[in-house]
Amino acid sequence: MTETSPGYKTDAAAETQIFAPRGDGADCQPSLARARQARKSGAIAAQLRGPVRMNFASDNGAGVAPPILDAIRASSRVNAPAYGADEFTARAAARISEIFERQAAVFLVATGTGANALSLAALTAPWQAVFCHEEAHVIDDECGAPEFFTAGAKVVGVAGRDGKIQPAGLAEMLARYPIGQAKTSQPGALSLSQATEAGTAYRPDEIAALAAVARQAGMGVHMDGARFANVVAATGASPAALTWRAGVDVLSLGATKNGALACEAVIVFDPAKAAAMQYQRKRAGQTLSKGRFLGAQMEAWLAGDLWLQLARQANNAARRLAQGLAAAPGLRLAFPVEANEVFVVAPDATLAGWRAAGAKFYDWSTRSARPDLAPGAGETMARLVTSFETSDAEVDALLALAKTP
Ligand SMILES: Cc1ncc(COP(=O)(O)O)c(C=O)c1O
Repeated sequence: MTETSPGYKTDAAAETQIFAPRGDGADCQPSLARARQARKSGAIAAQLRGPVRMNFASDNGAGVAPPILDAIRASSRVNAPAYGADEFTARAAARISEIFERQAAVFLVATGTGANALSLAALTAPWQAVFCHEEAHVIDDECGAPEFFTAGAKVVGVAGRDGKIQPAGLAEMLARYPIGQAKTSQPGALSLSQATEAGTAYRPDEIAALAAVARQAGMGVHMDGARFANVVAATGASPAALTWRAGVDVLSLGATKNGALACEAVIVFDPAKAAAMQYQRKRAGQTLSKGRFLGAQMEAWLAGDLWLQLARQANNAARRLAQGLAAAPGLRLAFPVEANEVFVVAPDATLAGWRAAGAKFYDWSTRSARPDLAPGAGETMARLVTSFETSDAEVDALLALAKTP
């Protein structure tokens, strides 16, 4: 459970929300369409008040944090050089180097898949293999983009409990890919998801142990940091300790799930290894002509500690949700809750009831849970994701349902 997870840091100050949630989502619609719709139904008041939403489907469902929207608007008022040669992008890159305590090469892109595939292309030749957890986003959810961008590298899944690869598991899999054997893909890169697809977090010593195995096989290390901010906020470990100091060569740093509109950074900690990246990014269609809008998003996200405030808010909602669900009758958590995702195992009828009451979430299938925690007959695992917009009322509404057997 969250509170007993090693290194999990609570932050009382962050218990209060810094951005008001958007109610039932009616206010997301364009105002004209909304007004028409409301007039049609004659239910303006009801629509404005709305029921409490219980949207735990994805942190991608959240909107854009107001300071980031403001920054986009402000950057729109200037006529900026194209293709990332603008002042916003330069300041965002400088801030990243400051936060990571190292002069890094930074390439902004619009999607997490693009960031991951480009990162892996920087580390891997076509005849090599990328080793990742068997349920990683790069192997399951990117439609072969890593294979495509690396011009054909093989992506190999490694099993591991709680979404994490273990050094022994990695070594065992590497033994099947002997160095110098011409008929076998050669070790190219290790890719770690942070947070993992099970909502758990690798600690710096765990990363260092895996990176040591990777190095021995001559591999580089990539980190898919789509939820990196959540891990920094949850563990209190420094960005440097969680990356290059532990042996990470390239990080995909995700801002989109945590308040940006669409912005991720490929961070190459040894700029000498980034020589080809500007060409690779252009070939991948990820060099935005109006790149200043990426720069403005990243600069605003990292200004002060906005990125960590947003992540803390999402983490706190997940922690509260997890504590309540763990205490509810007939429910159990499948994984330690260490970021902004809660995986709960519940009777099928319970989940059907939550859905009937309006809750949004996905059923989840995984081989990564401990056998005693995995779903049994008549049970399903559900994934509940919180974001910086998740309100206390949303969490309370689901917990009220959960307490009713
Ligand atoms: C672990 C992980 N990595 C990367 C991504 C980014 O993917 P996208 O290309 O949808 O931005 C996601 C998004 O769901 C993710 O969960």
